[in-house]
Amino acid sequence: SLVTTTEMFKKAYEGHYAIGAFNINNMEIVQALADAASDLSSPMILQASAGARKYAKPSYLKHLVAAALEDHSELTVALHLDHGADFETCKDCIDSGFTSVMIDGSKYAFEENIALTKKVVEYAHAHGVVVEGELGQLAGIEDEVKVAAHEASYTRPEEVEEFVTRTGVDSLAIAIGTSHGAYKFTPAQCTRNEQGVLVPPTLRFDILEEVAKRLPGFPIVLHGASSVVPEYVKIINANGGNLADAIGIPEDQLRKAASMAVCKINIDSDIRLAMTAGIRQHMAQHPDHFDPRQYLTDARQNVYNLASHKIKDVLGSDHKA
Ligand code: G3H
Ligand code: 13P
Ligand code: ZN
Ligand code: NA
Repeated sequence: SLVTTTEMFKKAYEGHYAIGAFNINNMEIVQALADAASDLSSPMILQASAGARKYAKPSYLKHLVAAALEDHSELTVALHLDHGADFETCKDCIDSGFTSVMIDGSKYAFEENIALTKKVVEYAHAHGVVVEGELGQLAGIEDEVKVAAHEASYTRPEEVEEFVTRTGVDSLAIAIGTSHGAYKFTPAQCTRNEQGVLVPPTLRFDILEEVAKRLPGFPIVLHGASSVVPEYVKIINANGGNLADAIGIPEDQLRKAASMAVCKINIDSDIRLAMTAGIRQHMAQHPDHFDPRQYLTDARQNVYNLASHKIKDVLGSDHKA
């Protein structure tokens, strides 16, 4: 059934795991995610960005999720707005059946962020919908807004209690060193291990711990948490792609975050890479194919494998529905 994230997060916090929040854009992605969650009895969050709503149209997204629930009546799913930029977008999603929205006021000054977030919370709670807020800024690409690495600022733990109390948000996204997209770190920011593989800097778990200490039991959200699966990057590059120096968050760090106060881990780039690897490999192996069902079957299978791996081996949300 379609639910809010309240129960999911409570169980995840107490059970030291996290719920995957996967970005959806089309039918194949929704099918693959729903099948993986169903096969592993995992709760999940399906989230749509403004860009996804523009691409697929809000009505298609809504009905794709409804179809997934019709196909898998036992599924426990929250439908979430990713990076809501303003009150109107959040209201639109709340009015059309979303069970959760993010109001991303992280680019505003503290007081403005509070005022905007509080306004969304009041409307959302009056309609039985939960709200995610954000404090601190991630580096990388959020929609069309490019945040340069040096402009990114970590969440200040001394601000979180006031923000949560005054806004009434149900969960809080924080910045501890993750970033959006497939290029989370430059090679210059990384070190090399004995095999010559780039090792990115460690996330600021000290900030996460300090936030958790100040907000006991409160669910924390990690954006920009794709691991930029090296196998998929390799397949893409071996089949005509050119993703030089794509690098993500190592999965052991995501496992650690999931065992702590982090209850929601956002994954979009890994889905994009899985789809693209499936399509590129299929096209290279079958130059005579031109039926989209042929290459999209491989793309969909990759997303299923990816989501299954994340649920079982990274998030720990399998058999928790
Ligand atoms: O945080 C950004 C998500 O990956 C969504 O990306 O705005 O390109 O759909 P998008
Ligand atoms: P990635 O780009 O790391 O997948 O992050 C996705 C995200 O945070 C969506 O809000
Ligand atoms: Zn995000
Ligand atoms: Na957790």
